[in-house]
Amino acid sequence: MKIVVLAGGISTEREVSIVSGTKVCEALRSKGHQAILVDVYCGDENTAVENAFADDYDLEAAVARIQSFNEKLDTMSGRREFFGPKVLELCRAADIVFLALHGENGENGKVQAAFDLLGIRYTGSGYLSSALAMDKELSKQMFREFHVPTPAGIVLRRDEERKPAANNGVGLPCVVKPSCGGSSVGVFIAHTEEEYQKALEDAFMYEDVLIIEQYIKGREFSIGVVDGVVYPVIEIAPIQGFYDYNNKYQAGSTIETCPAELSRELTEKMQACALQAYEALRLESYGRIDVMMDEENQMYCLEANTLPGMTPTSLLPQEAAAMGMDFPSLCEKLIQVSL
Ligand SMILES: Nc1ncnc2c1ncn2[C@@H]1O[C@H](COP(=O)(O)OP(=O)(O)O)[C@@H](O)[C@H]1O
Ligand SMILES: [Mg+2]
Repeated sequence: MKIVVLAGGISTEREVSIVSGTKVCEALRSKGHQAILVDVYCGDENTAVENAFADDYDLEAAVARIQSFNEKLDTMSGRREFFGPKVLELCRAADIVFLALHGENGENGKVQAAFDLLGIRYTGSGYLSSALAMDKELSKQMFREFHVPTPAGIVLRRDEERKPAANNGVGLPCVVKPSCGGSSVGVFIAHTEEEYQKALEDAFMYEDVLIIEQYIKGREFSIGVVDGVVYPVIEIAPIQGFYDYNNKYQAGSTIETCPAELSRELTEKMQACALQAYEALRLESYGRIDVMMDEENQMYCLEANTLPGMTPTSLLPQEAAAMGMDFPSLCEKLIQVSL
């Protein structure tokens, strides 16, 4: 198959996306596909679309070219159109586009909506479910509607009165996070009133809408769902602090155990919770659900990720590996279920 692996872009997760995209492209090529890596924002001015999927495609050179844009992004990012030169032409010429984008445009449904109108096929959820899953305020409403357990929480907008934590309906300790963020950017845990007010101040630097949630003390897990099938549960245990940006991307800072050490009963309960969340948000093809479990074994769904990390050591690939599915086979599977 001719496949465009779309990565990069200008979100805070650009770098991670380039790593996902490179690995996915490599894996698909190892399976005999004509896969090419394209930066959604920087594009590929010099490529002739007719020859883009050539057999002698040089992935290393493509990665180097994409990374060479990193320093120029500031000067480029004023452009009005999101898609870079030749991007749409290349995507149209492919049988499917593998979305290796993370964060903002890419994960929030806008690229999906544009592709729907252009008749371009892509992997993962459609525009509506992507948008729902990206927005933690709306996700929470859907979770409540469909009885998916989720931490108690409220929404605070920038122009609203900032009540003390004791009177805001959530209390302390609590978690403050931007409604449409990702990668734990702008997520703060507050134990005191002072920390809470500072967390609001800091989190509003990222967005105008915040979620303030009951802090769940306990263990953290993630569960992949592919085409309605739940994958093994993975436990995430940061050696220090919570699963913040550094612990997510710094190798060795988090102990990841898959399958998680949980009784069969709790495993099944957690998998059911993940599937319920997947269905509540109407996810399609695949996704990864973050769940916490408190000391009384109560489960709480935090959020769904519609384009989870896709390097061989990312969580979903680790879950697939625990079922005996290697990384290239998982990449191919995600294409199959999306088609
Ligand atoms: N209510 C909560 N209780 C305890 N920890 C939380 C809570 N909400 C978030 N966290 C911690 O913050 C991390 C990021 O939060 P999450 O809601 O998954 O947002 P995102 O991953 O989109 O940034 C979680 O992986 C978890 O470690
Ligand atoms: Mg998360």
